[in-house]
Amino acid sequence: MKREIITTGDGSTTIHMPEWNEQYHSKHGAIQEARHVFIEMGLKKILERDNCKEISILEIGFGTGLNAMVTWEAVEAKEIFINYTGVEAYPVAVEEVIQLNFAEEIKLENSKDIFNKLHESSWEEANKICENLTLTKQQKFFHQIEDVETYDLIYFDAFGARVQPDLWTVEIFEKMFKATKQDGVLVTYAAKGSVRRAMLEVGFKVERLQGPPGKREMLRATKV
Ligand SMILES: C[S@@+](CC[C@H](N)C(=O)[O-])C[C@H]1O[C@@H](n2cnc3c(N)ncnc32)[C@H](O)[C@@H]1O
Repeated sequence: MKREIITTGDGSTTIHMPEWNEQYHSKHGAIQEARHVFIEMGLKKILERDNCKEISILEIGFGTGLNAMVTWEAVEAKEIFINYTGVEAYPVAVEEVIQLNFAEEIKLENSKDIFNKLHESSWEEANKICENLTLTKQQKFFHQIEDVETYDLIYFDAFGARVQPDLWTVEIFEKMFKATKQDGVLVTYAAKGSVRRAMLEVGFKVERLQGPPGKREMLRATKV
């Protein structure tokens, strides 16, 4: 499938697939969307808990590594340890990675170094990215996930249900529910009624929250 790098509304880049008319991130702003959906509505909810010292995160679709980057940005100056697992069936090619500008747009001293480490780190094993972030990239399909009570937080960032309806089903959310610890949280940019109903059916409590710019709503599911 044809893929091209485009610039989104906030100046950050993403990958566009013309045949699907789908992008890896919002056209209104890739970094802006990642910070809102996954950090503001997800990670911060966990960080505000008493005695929060260590958080295990599962990302559904590691892709460009943007969500790992904004996670690092959010905890960089904090005494919190992040154990980050990114599942991805189709890793982004190096030729594409080098065209992405997240390291330039996330203006922290070590951005470039961290972005490179995220992509250069080996698959199927834990890699120490910095003092408080360990990354394990797993190359497999989402339906192969069999973790049980492992994650405090899931970033559910699959392509939209319009193009990949099979990834927004009861079967997949059952796996997500199983993989989440008690009181754990799943966040996604999606707000579709059918997605919300699938989450409810597997046992999550689901909230509709304000979406990122350009999108009215998003969903947060909690395993209560
Ligand atoms: C919307 S993109 C988001 C990627 C990533 N979160 C990011 O910020 O770049 C969805 C990702 O899911 C991956 N993907 C699609 N179908 C998959 C499947 N069945 N199993 C595993 N990964 C899949 C794609 O290759 C893509 O990287």
